[in-house]
Amino acid sequence: MTLDEHQASSPFVSERTFSRRRSAIDVVAPYLAVPGVERLIEFLRVAFDAQLTFRSKTGTHFEVRIGDSMLMAGQHFASDLITMASYLVTGGAGFIGSHLAEELVRRGHRVRVVDSLITGKRRNLDHISGVEFLEGDLAETNVAARAVEGMDYVLHQAAIPSVPRSVKDPITSNRANIDASLNILVAARDAGVRRLVYAGSSSVYGDTPTLPKREDMPPNPLSPYALQKLVAEQYCQMFTRLYGFETVTIRYFNVFGPRQDPGSPYSGVISLFSTALLEGRQPTIYGDGAQTRDFTYVANVVDGVLRASEAPDAAGEVINVACGTRISLNDLLRVMNGIVGTNIQAIYEKERAGDVRDSQADITKARTLLGYQPIVSLEEGLKHTLDWCRAEAAATAGR
Ligand SMILES: NC(=O)c1ccc[n+]([C@@H]2O[C@H](COP(=O)([O-])OP(=O)(O)OC[C@H]3O[C@@H](n4cnc5c(N)ncnc54)[C@H](O)[C@@H]3O)[C@@H](O)[C@H]2O)c1
Repeated sequence: MTLDEHQASSPFVSERTFSRRRSAIDVVAPYLAVPGVERLIEFLRVAFDAQLTFRSKTGTHFEVRIGDSMLMAGQHFASDLITMASYLVTGGAGFIGSHLAEELVRRGHRVRVVDSLITGKRRNLDHISGVEFLEGDLAETNVAARAVEGMDYVLHQAAIPSVPRSVKDPITSNRANIDASLNILVAARDAGVRRLVYAGSSSVYGDTPTLPKREDMPPNPLSPYALQKLVAEQYCQMFTRLYGFETVTIRYFNVFGPRQDPGSPYSGVISLFSTALLEGRQPTIYGDGAQTRDFTYVANVVDGVLRASEAPDAAGEVINVACGTRISLNDLLRVMNGIVGTNIQAIYEKERAGDVRDSQADITKARTLLGYQPIVSLEEGLKHTLDWCRAEAAATAGR
């Protein structure tokens, strides 16, 4: 039921009710049965730390004022109330998390980010206004409990997302990828969060020969990272089965885009190729370059994750989100050379332990359950990414 419908049918709400100035809670009390209102009231009170007055101009026209300042007004106030929600983005100072936070703010939601900054950067959020930032390590239970307070949804992105790093130091990555995930699941369940969407990984498929990868194929993790991502997604499914706590795992396939950190040897290959080509250097390819990946521009992943937070039939599911295509690293380098206007060859080095040979998603399930389809092509995404890298390089040079 919408707020307007509720108003029409409610004996408690009338022009008279609103003509008198009251405290927020008094006036909206009749609305508390309407989904969304309670959250909005709480949000306004916390965000503005103010006494709120609600009043009505006509039967359907609402205003929200703080003192003499207008905060919201209009016919659509009711639907605004109902669609607004609070989201916790764990790992929100990282690459994908910061894009999720940005899109949520753009859609008018309340956003909190929790991040230990182990790989993320505070400045990834600088251009987004209104995000609440909490610095902390989710492997600490008290950090997880504080982070989920008052949240409707959790988008769990926090992890140390690197195969080579997990091979080198499995204990540190286990703590970030499993302990922290279990903590956030427990905290979110206990805090009455509606749904947690978990950032799963295509690495769980390992080197099984069948392509494209379907969610019901048996997993075959080849690295501590892949195993940890699998354990955490199975924890998610178990929390849905055992406690009725709604979770959805979205398995990402080689995500790329602006803000992916090219500064570490563990960075995604596209960010490494981008900086190398723009600096006129030869990029390194581990192996013969014929290995293939389903590279996915970050906006596609954001769209899939946000759909998963609300899709009615997605609870307890594991769903691939990617483009459903694949390209070899050699071809990728050729396409990127074409965009930049260079012809730089790769340096080939020995294959890395734990890397899979081929990867491509079957995205039928995402199409069916989430209504998902890729919205940005590989080439378009590469252009955005290269533009961003150029701008970053110029900004760094100017500092
Ligand atoms: N980028 C990809 O291609 C890809 C592919 C598959 C899965 N994923 C998954 O997507 C998620 C986001 O990856 P990303 O590429 O944005 O990486 P990222 O390193 O940019 O972001 C991860 C964020 O998590 C934070 N973090 C790590 N451990 C934490 C902890 N214990 N407590 C709080 N914060 C912590 C980091 O500081 C960082 O900001 C990860 O879960 C990753 O496993 C990414």
